Amino acid sequence: MWTYRYQLKYISPSLAITHSTIYYLCLANTLFKMNKNDAKNIYERSMSILKNGLKIDGEAAIAELTELIKFHEWRYSVLNDPLVSDTEYDTLYKLLESEEAMFPLFVKQDSPTQRVSSDLSNNFPAVEHLIPMLSLDNSYNLEDLQDFDERIKKLAMLEADQDIEYAVEPKFDGGSIALVYENDQILRAASRGNGVKGEEMTANAKALKSIPLSAAFSKKGIAKVELRGEALIRKDNFKKINEQREADGQSIFANPRNAATGGLRMKDAQETAKRGIEAFIYQLGYAADENGQNVLSQFTKHDETIAFLGELGFKIPIKERKVCKNIKAVFDFVKEWEAKREGYDYEIDGMVIKVNDLALQLRCGFTSHHPRWAIAFKFKAKQATSKLLDVEYQIGKIGSITPVAKIDPVQLAGVTVSSISLHNQDFITTKDIRLGDTVLVERAGDVIPYIVKSMEDLRDGSEKAIDFPTNCPSCETKLVRGEKEAAWRCTNYHCEAQVLQRMVFHVSKDAMDVDGFGRSLVERFYEEGMVKSLPDIYRLDYERIAKLEGFGAKSAQNLQFAFEKAKKNPISRLLHSLSIHHVGKKVSKLIAAEIEYVLDLKDWTLEKFTDIKDIGPVVGENIIAFFQDEDNVTMLKQLEELGVNLRQTEDDKPKFVSADAPLIGKTILFTGTLLQMGRKEAQKMAEDAGAKNISAVSKNLNILVAGEKAGSKLKKAQALGSVEILSEQEFLNLIK
Ligand code: IVH
Repeated sequence: MWTYRYQLKYISPSLAITHSTIYYLCLANTLFKMNKNDAKNIYERSMSILKNGLKIDGEAAIAELTELIKFHEWRYSVLNDPLVSDTEYDTLYKLLESEEAMFPLFVKQDSPTQRVSSDLSNNFPAVEHLIPMLSLDNSYNLEDLQDFDERIKKLAMLEADQDIEYAVEPKFDGGSIALVYENDQILRAASRGNGVKGEEMTANAKALKSIPLSAAFSKKGIAKVELRGEALIRKDNFKKINEQREADGQSIFANPRNAATGGLRMKDAQETAKRGIEAFIYQLGYAADENGQNVLSQFTKHDETIAFLGELGFKIPIKERKVCKNIKAVFDFVKEWEAKREGYDYEIDGMVIKVNDLALQLRCGFTSHHPRWAIAFKFKAKQATSKLLDVEYQIGKIGSITPVAKIDPVQLAGVTVSSISLHNQDFITTKDIRLGDTVLVERAGDVIPYIVKSMEDLRDGSEKAIDFPTNCPSCETKLVRGEKEAAWRCTNYHCEAQVLQRMVFHVSKDAMDVDGFGRSLVERFYEEGMVKSLPDIYRLDYERIAKLEGFGAKSAQNLQFAFEKAKKNPISRLLHSLSIHHVGKKVSKLIAAEIEYVLDLKDWTLEKFTDIKDIGPVVGENIIAFFQDEDNVTMLKQLEELGVNLRQTEDDKPKFVSADAPLIGKTILFTGTLLQMGRKEAQKMAEDAGAKNISAVSKNLNILVAGEKAGSKLKKAQALGSVEILSEQEFLNLIK
């Protein structure tokens, strides 16, 4: 299977590296003949190692891992359809590395660890980098970082209690680029390629505004320099690009990295420019004076070189970069960024830790694969593969049926996941998800986990189609699906499963906000027969509760207080808490603004509802249907008898800012001394005009009103460039 590659190696090892495209094509040819059973077999062998560890060692282990890794690399790089997640691949790769370190005799020339990965193609001419662009070693936890720190200390001949200083910055997840400047002018840009040679893409790089066409390297006596960086697309921009492509009927990009690397490889540099690619520079790789003498030694720290590049106008990490005085401080910083990762504008898959002292970097040197003075700290995997074991159906408060996948538990971003929503029937059909399938699952930050895809190639025929129920799993009522609705619904308002969900919602933060009475308590009281309907939850026997396990007099009393408080809620909350289809927070407020007594709605006509701006006939009909059901009216009367507020005065009515208010949706901040009004008064005026007052200058701020003697906030807003700055009078004119 690997003959072609072996032959190339035999003729010339260096030729083999520069011909990795041919290598992949030949590989593709042979592997294409593989059938699904091979994919399944490779997957199962990989998973067995990942779950149970290596049961063999030495030559056999190396051979096994090599075969698996090569297959996964081919699926990823050639077919663009990986069978395993990045982390699963990385783990196998690391195992191979450590196995090879223990048994160096068995390291083959064509081992995946001996090849620097390549993105070379025939579309762009290949150019040699001034110095090789290597990869990075990976770490996953504090222990790995401490091992790295110890290795550095040994190389530096330091004692265990002496500290090494590290520069830490994001591991940007885009496409790497190398930029060469000569005599202060950009000479050439290239992709990483195979690390030795890259694809020349100068015209495309020149189209990127974040790459200066000229930069004053000469002020430091530098005549020729090579910089390394990463081409990226902001997440919000990526979203827009995909929306546009979808609208144009083009295929969408899987992630911002693909959009960025694809953008760099466009034939037309104008097209590259349109994609909004940005380049972060993270390394000064080579610097020589006019005689070709290395002049890097004028800098003492990595951090200093990056700051210098920032001064010259390059885009560099700023708040994302930190010099840490020891490995513990590094760990704190990388964990801080792991937590912040989702909120960051760009995709990052980890942080890179570099020995800050350049002289020490030199002493550490390189392996054939990575510098010994740097390591990547990989964030916890967002993706993993698992098996779909079963599908359960949840019934929501308005009767929507949500299929929920039960999967073999997996670790995703540090959390064990065993249940994943499948949303609705269309989701299952579109993704062709079957019972017994191997599925790729993802959980990004706080986003709820979801199934990315089913692995068709891993099916063995035993998988079963998911039969969506036709009747409610709780009350057997025939399910219905509205024309424009994604969900099947049980229309029986008295369906037990719905009643329970409605009780849970009724007491939740968004609705009546009964402090301390959450889902688990409602479920527990329901199971014990203490609450069967909404009025029941206002009839709780607090003396009995005080005696329940986990309670006491004090907590029972607190619960009673919480209910007393909730009873006084404005009627908009009560309306919302009834779980009438399409009657959410906003609609509840709109209706509450028009009535004095909730039960008045009994006599409302459809017209009366649709006369309210933003309320359509569907909402109106749902509310009418609700009040036509005598049981519901009785239930509301019972609530009233139990002390729940169903009335309001003119003053209690919700107030609205009209959609055409001058500052609608804007954020605003007042600074300095105002002459015509007080600060509070100004803020109230801004609010009435639809704005939201915020307290700090950031890119989230839209308007800064600068009074007399405005200071640092004004300066900061001016520096941001994106904030509209108004005088007090201009503000008054605007809201008039
Ligand atoms: S330093 C010789 N720093 O990660 C130094 N690399 O796995 C090696 N990358 O393809 C690279 N952010 O493009 C370095 N702050 C950063 C990085 C970074 C992303 C990429 C780089 C390379 C890959 C290495």
